[in-house]
Amino acid sequence: MDEIRFILNGKETAYAGAATDRLLDVLRGAYRCTSVKCGCREGECGACAVLIDGTLINSCCVAMGAVEGSSIVTLEGYRETERFAVLDKAFAEVSAVQCGFCIPGMVLAAESVLSSNPDPTEEEVRIGMSGNLCRCTGYNAIIHAIMIAVKEGNGLW
Ligand code: FES
Ligand code: FES
Repeated sequence: MDEIRFILNGKETAYAGAATDRLLDVLRGAYRCTSVKCGCREGECGACAVLIDGTLINSCCVAMGAVEGSSIVTLEGYRETERFAVLDKAFAEVSAVQCGFCIPGMVLAAESVLSSNPDPTEEEVRIGMSGNLCRCTGYNAIIHAIMIAVKEGNGLW
């Protein structure tokens, strides 16, 4: 069978498994991207969100065959960026991380919101983050952190 070729966190990658394998399972199992969390496995919680060609997508809903030629970023790759450093500091500043399970998806969702709108209102951030669920109900701290990052990261997005 042909390999499925894609870029993972900046590195050329070839996957020899089935095209029907789930991206979430492959990222965690084959490539040890354990920041990608498995919550609902049905596209509802956002814990498994990754950036595919810059778009936030729930990896539990993606078959490997669909990622051929794509560039995928997980938190393992995103954490090397200057933008991550700003979000990281902001999340820490307001203790936005509780159990932490939802946070990798939240951070990538924040990147997605800010890259499409670098100067959002709080309401726009809330709407943009609405596909990511936090079972610790920590939304206010997370939204607050993102609004801090909007100011601190002025010019980065
Ligand atoms: S595990 Fe993918 S959206 Fe919940
Ligand atoms: S911090 Fe626990 S699920 Fe969000």
